[in-house]
Amino acid sequence: MGGGAAEAAKAVAARTAVDALVVPGMRLALGTGSTAAWALRRLAERVPGGAVDCVASSVATERLAASLGLSVRPLAADDRFDLMLDGADEVAPSLDLTKGGGGALFREKLLATLSRRVAIVVDAEKLVPALGSRHPIPVEVVPFARPSLAHRFARAGWGVGRRTAPDGSPFVTDNGNEILDLRPAAPLADPAATAAALRAEVGVVETGLFVGLADQVFVGHADGNVETRVRSPPRPG
Ligand code: A5P
Repeated sequence: MGGGAAEAAKAVAARTAVDALVVPGMRLALGTGSTAAWALRRLAERVPGGAVDCVASSVATERLAASLGLSVRPLAADDRFDLMLDGADEVAPSLDLTKGGGGALFREKLLATLSRRVAIVVDAEKLVPALGSRHPIPVEVVPFARPSLAHRFARAGWGVGRRTAPDGSPFVTDNGNEILDLRPAAPLADPAATAAALRAEVGVVETGLFVGLADQVFVGHADGNVETRVRSPPRPG
């Protein structure tokens, strides 16, 4: 799917998700990335004037939401969200995800865990038979630990890339950390075990493996069709 077709597929999937799931008065967690941006635009059309209460998963999303007139506020101590709308880099048949291509994985994962329902919007190119097939696994790390972690991950067989910004400088997350993009030697057979092993390393803040978090995935196709996939069995409420 080319650039324009992919954007059209993301847009139609985002529109379908928002129209199906969002009602005024909801508490929403907002994801990050080009697909989440389509969802925000539709949200602003559907529920203009701050009729939904939103928390954003990144500074970029916060700015976009505010520019669209959506009511965005910081995370509160007792926040629970009715719905999180987000994109993904890879979607496995189990609805497990690789996320973090935009570097917002930590806040995205936190908000997902605080959401009663997590709806993911993607174009069909994001569907993979197993996580790690096409996209590296982003891992947010404390900067002090980054050289040592990169060395250890490489010794463990990962292809390790240090994320850089467009100007070539090290990419810095909204939390002041760095991202290592880890390429597995083969697609992941057990993403939950991989996520646990990566998180066990001192200095790892969070991984982009989202296991058991997505409830529903809206998949946009180049012909304008949108297919919906639902977790089975459902996530415990
Ligand atoms: C942001 O950190 C990511 O998790 C995004 O949701 C993911 O990278 C998908 O981005 P696009 O919607 O831009 O493809």
